[in-house]
Amino acid sequence: MKLILLGAPGSGKGTQAAFICEKLSIPSISTGAILREAIKNGTQTGLKAKEYMDAGKLVPDDIILGIMEDRLAEPDCANGYILDGFPRTIPQAEALEKIASIDCALSIEVSDSEIEQRMTGRRVCKDCGKTFHITGNPPKKEGICDDCGGELIQRDDDNPETVRARLTVYHNETEPLKSFYEGRGKLRRVNGVGSVEDIRDSVFETLGI
Ligand code: AP5
Repeated sequence: MKLILLGAPGSGKGTQAAFICEKLSIPSISTGAILREAIKNGTQTGLKAKEYMDAGKLVPDDIILGIMEDRLAEPDCANGYILDGFPRTIPQAEALEKIASIDCALSIEVSDSEIEQRMTGRRVCKDCGKTFHITGNPPKKEGICDDCGGELIQRDDDNPETVRARLTVYHNETEPLKSFYEGRGKLRRVNGVGSVEDIRDSVFETLGI
């Protein structure tokens, strides 16, 4: 299956991608995670991307498309993949159509007020990137990753001001993708409010997996 996860920042794309990835044994590809890794490694791409990400803006399409063309050509993508955070603009979606035939674009629907509350409570493992929430999806031991024992930290772009900027960018530039995929008969929607496990069950049901 070639699946796109659509949704506002903090709607739970990464959280649900992990469940689908485990169930279908296909890779989950997050452009945000690739960019954060590039920043950590101090690459040219990372240096360019950081100023956009810290301001809550989208990284320019040419940088993202270069990354994704390379990534989707890797052997682990042969049997399908989950795209978490890509495409995020109409030009990105049009470019993707030239290199891949997508089966489904799944939109995880969450209101802006819920998003703002979620983002301040998000904690991410410094080592493996696994995501938690201090109340909604807490780790077994405070501040420690359940999977690898790494330290849990707050992302630089999870402060309230940047979250509001990211939501505005989402509504203006990414939300139109819902109509784009609806027009192609590929859009599915799930309610993203409720327990992580209940949403996982509706995602599986909607995808028929
Ligand atoms: P990216 O890393 O993709 O961030 P995002 O889309 O803003 O999404 P998030 O990772 O913030 O949230 P999510 O939907 O994955 O939610 P999560 O599962 O973590 O992108 C970061 C930046 O990179 C962008 O701003 C942009 O600058 C750049 N970028 C990336 N891709 C790009 C592209 N294609 N083009 C241009 N620029 C690009 O959940 C959030 C929190 O809620 C967690 O704490 C989680 O535990 C909790 N949670 C999840 N589900 C629930 C639930 N049901 N109930 C309660 N809490 C929950």
